Amino acid sequence: MLAAGVFARWRENVTALLSDIRRQARRASLTSDEKCGRMTMLRSLARAVLPASARQRLRQWHRDRTLERAVQTFRSLDHLEPIPAEVFDDLSYGWGNSSWSARLELIETTIQFGTTTTTPLLECGSGLSTVILGLALGGSQTRIWSLENDRTWLERTQAALDRFGITGVRLLHAPLRDYGGYQWYTPPLDQMPAGFGIVVCDGPPGSTPGGRGGLVPVMGSRLLPGCRILLDDIERAEEQATMAAWARTLGTEPVVMGSRKPFGQLTLPG
Ligand SMILES: C[S@@+](CC[C@H](N)C(=O)[O-])C[C@H]1O[C@@H](n2cnc3c(N)ncnc32)[C@H](O)[C@@H]1O
Repeated sequence: MLAAGVFARWRENVTALLSDIRRQARRASLTSDEKCGRMTMLRSLARAVLPASARQRLRQWHRDRTLERAVQTFRSLDHLEPIPAEVFDDLSYGWGNSSWSARLELIETTIQFGTTTTTPLLECGSGLSTVILGLALGGSQTRIWSLENDRTWLERTQAALDRFGITGVRLLHAPLRDYGGYQWYTPPLDQMPAGFGIVVCDGPPGSTPGGRGGLVPVMGSRLLPGCRILLDDIERAEEQATMAAWARTLGTEPVVMGSRKPFGQLTLPG
């Protein structure tokens, strides 16, 4: 067990070193290879002298600081412009769930659509995307409704919304239920708007029977004419089948977008 005083001193030293790396990188006196090299050095040093529990606390503390700084930077951006990759990388690292989080292009596309309309946005599957969309589009009035089946996950996302004072998102607990042949969220429809103009589909988790397919049968009557539906993970066969089925039901054509990680887009007839 590491004494609290020793850990605090370590943290101060690490903070100073990180600020130094950041300052030098900002002045372009550090290349990204050099920056990477210093971080590796810092990690090796920590591994050599700190027990695993202290390293974990240090890592979490570093993630929290990085997230806080990245949120501050993100708030100052013009949301009509692309999100700088390094800001997104910091948000993603700070959030700490990168293999499950929506990628930059999907989030940017959602923000682009969101800035051209004032209609409500429905998100299926909360997390980092909820925080970023809330920062970019939320404003002071609720505009984003996010469905989350997992109570623990919901609490984590809600804590971040509260921490950053993001008020334009209503995060709703929507447990999964069986609809006869597939499962999907149980949305509290009486608390939700009559029509959505944008939907981002990044849940329920891929292991759910029927996957994300339930969106159109369950929420179809709340999708406004011209509504854009964005479906993540379209590289998966199940999502491709879902997209094709939705397109047939809604009378529209699917489009594949995203150059790094593809996602699908459907636009309902206007
Ligand atoms: C693909 S994730 C949604 C990610 C979210 N849109 C984001 O950008 O962070 C879909 C669902 O998986 C669950 N989930 C998120 N992270 C998870 C993890 N690390 N392990 C297991 N389930 C997770 C949550 O219930 C979440 O709503």
